[in-house]
Order: sequence, then C-alpha cells, then structure tokens
Amino acid sequence: MALEYLPTEIITQIFLSLPDIRSAAALSATSHRFHSVFHSPQNLVILSSTAEAEFGPLDEIIQLVTHNASQPAHIRRKVPLSTALIKQVVQVGRVAQRWEETYPFKKWKSDFASRRLLTTDERYRVRRAVYRLWLFSRAFHNASNIRTCRSIPSVVSTRAALLHNFSLRELAEMYDVHQIMREVMRTNICPSNGRMRVKYQSRYPDQPHGLMFNIHLNYPPAPSSFIPESWFHNSPTANLNSRHHQPSRWLDPGAEGWGDDITHYYVVEDMLKLDPEQILHLRDHCPLKAQVEAYVKEVAGEWFINNGETFNETLAHVVRQRGGEMEELGAAVEEGEMGVAGAE
Ligand SMILES: *[C@@H]1O[C@H](CO)[C@@H](O)[C@H](O)[C@H]1NC(C)=O
Ligand SMILES: *[C@@H]1O[C@H](CO)[C@@H](O)[C@H](O)[C@H]1NC(C)=O
Ligand SMILES: *[C@@H]1O[C@H](CO)[C@@H](O)[C@H](O)[C@H]1NC(C)=O
Ligand SMILES: *[C@@H]1O[C@H](CO)[C@@H](O)[C@H](O)[C@H]1NC(C)=O
Repeated sequence: MALEYLPTEIITQIFLSLPDIRSAAALSATSHRFHSVFHSPQNLVILSSTAEAEFGPLDEIIQLVTHNASQPAHIRRKVPLSTALIKQVVQVGRVAQRWEETYPFKKWKSDFASRRLLTTDERYRVRRAVYRLWLFSRAFHNASNIRTCRSIPSVVSTRAALLHNFSLRELAEMYDVHQIMREVMRTNICPSNGRMRVKYQSRYPDQPHGLMFNIHLNYPPAPSSFIPESWFHNSPTANLNSRHHQPSRWLDPGAEGWGDDITHYYVVEDMLKLDPEQILHLRDHCPLKAQVEAYVKEVAGEWFINNGETFNETLAHVVRQRGGEMEELGAAVEEGEMGVAGAE
C-alpha cells in the first residue's frame, strides 16, 4: 500500500516520531501528500515536537529568546509557538549542540580513560544548562551591570531569583557546564603566558631560549634572536606569510599570551560574561589575541572591562541560602557525583 493513502493523523504521527527537523523536511519532500501534511495547520505541532526531540527543552529556549528588559528574567514566559519562534529555537539549539560535542573533550581532558560520548539524557542536560546560563548572561551581563553595582543586595537578589528556580542538581549541572566554558576560555581563547610558553616549547623543542612576552614590541631583538624575523607583523616576510596562511598564533607567539597567573585569572573572569554563542565564535574564528580583542570591543563596551562574570558568585550565594556549601557542590561536580555526567 502506498503511504500516500494513509490518513492524515497517521502521517502526522510519522512526522512526530522523527528525531530532528532535517528529517521532517526531508520526508516532506518525498511526496505531495507528505508535503501537504507538513505544510498544513499541523506544521507547528510537527515542528515543535521534532525541535523538542532535537534541541529540547524547548521551554528553556523560549525563556531565553523571549527575554527582554520589560520583565525580570525569573518570571516564566508562556508564548504561543510560531514559525519565527521555531527559527530562533533552531539557531539557539544548534549552539547548544556544539557544547554537547565540546563537553566530553574538556570534561575528561586528561582523564582519557573516562572519556566517552554523552548519553541522550546527558546531552539534554548540557543543552538545558546552556540555555539557562545563556539567559543568565543575557539578563545580567549587560551595560547596566557595571562593576560597582555587582554586590548591591537588591542586584544580588535579582540574580539569585533566577537561580532559585532550579533544583540543586540542576544548579550543579549549570556549574559543570560553566566550568567547561571556563576551560575553553582559559586554554583555547585566552591562553596564559605560561601556557603559550609550554606550547611553544613543545612545538619548537630545538629553540634553546624560552619565549618572551611582548618585549620585542618595544625592543626588537637582534636578528640572531630566537624568534625568526618573519614573525614580526611589520616585516615583509610576515606579510607574505599572512597572505598565504591562516592567521596563526605562531607568527608572533610572544604577543599571544594573556598574562601571568593573577592577570590571566581576571581576564578569564571578564571574558566569561560573553554568552555561549559568542564564546564558540571566538574559539572557532578568532585564533589571534588581536582578533579576540577587536571582537570584544565590538560586542561590548567600557562596562565589560575589569568586571568579572557573576554566575559563580550568585550560585555560591544561592547554595548558601539553601544551607549548603559551594565548596561541597564544586567537589561533587569535580568527583562526578553531580553535574551533567554525574550519577543520578
Ligand atoms: C518583552 O516581553 C514581553 C513579555 O514576553 C512582551 O509582551 C513584549 O512585547 C516584549 N517587548 C519587546 C519590546 O519586545
Ligand atoms: C540589564 O540588566 C538589568 C539589571 O540586571 C536588567 O534589569 C535588565 O533587564 C537587563 N537588560 C536587558 C536588556 O536584559
Ligand atoms: C521561578 O521563580 C518565580 C518567583 O521567584 C516564580 O514566579 C516562577 O514561577 C518560578 N518558575 C519556576 C519554573 O519555578
Ligand atoms: C566560585 O565561587 C566559589 C565560592 O565563592 C570560589 O571558592 C571559587 O573559587 C569560584 N570559582 C572561580 C573559578 O572563581
């Protein structure tokens, strides 16, 4: 029997059982009948069901994309689904999926033996944490949150109100994913001077001298120095290189470190105000420090500098209010008792 002759309800059921939007679109292209069911009034039902399976929890995405300054972030919003909303859902959902992929690499970075793919439930928890962290960032890491107001009690309690909506387990998952983002920021986007030094040494083991930072900007070393002349941006050979190669940290590695311990710590704190999509953008498209700086200048302003992210301290505040200890929660996530991949 041709599938064409199935009743509409059955065809709708087939659509509803598909795992993602791409399959639904593909199926709708197979025949007129499927096409017309897909583009019938059932369309939004089908789309929301497949989007839930692929990117869910949809409700959390909706909280994120419908947030605006007219309402506190912790008030749950109910909005009717529309095609425009589904479009935003897909965009946000795809970002969360990339964090699903990143998670195992950072979580079990040195612990190779434990590294594995995430289960369906764990993926769901990564996405949920990403949407919630993203909302936190959108609502509280903005130009009206300048450095001096971060600890004002009323400001703290507004931030805390959002986190109070979540159970301790869910907060631990957010903390877990936040640590993954911190790792990406700390090591991939804004590597410390020390990290650049170590990487340089493993890449160029024959160079007898260590790497110097920024010094040559003021005092170009003699030609016999360990850094080839071609590494200077203003040298003719460097320009030639950059025309033929992707920009690389190794053209001028001394200029690529983001400072030593304390300076580096505060840089990372500042940078973690960026949202999950911006962090991935920097990781994937801005290999050079100058590019990262230019991007931040473009998306943020004065308020951004010297003004660390506030999720971690708000979480500590909320955990204390519930009679717990942040250190314990941190340790439970570290030891795999809580968090995305933590025991149920
Ligand atoms: C802000 O959000 C509220 C509630 O979701 C909505 O009714 C309102 O239209 C939004 N305002 C703007 C300017 O988008
Ligand atoms: C910026 O932050 C303030 C204070 O947290 C908040 O009330 C406001 O809604 C935020 N602005 C936007 C556009 O989310
Ligand atoms: C979040 O908390 C606010 C009040 O603090 C409440 O109005 C809202 O319903 C809560 N939402 C959830 C999902 O718990
Ligand atoms: C997060 O907050 C806790 C409690 O205040 C603190 O001990 C910890 O060092 C913070 N983590 C980071 C990475 O700043």
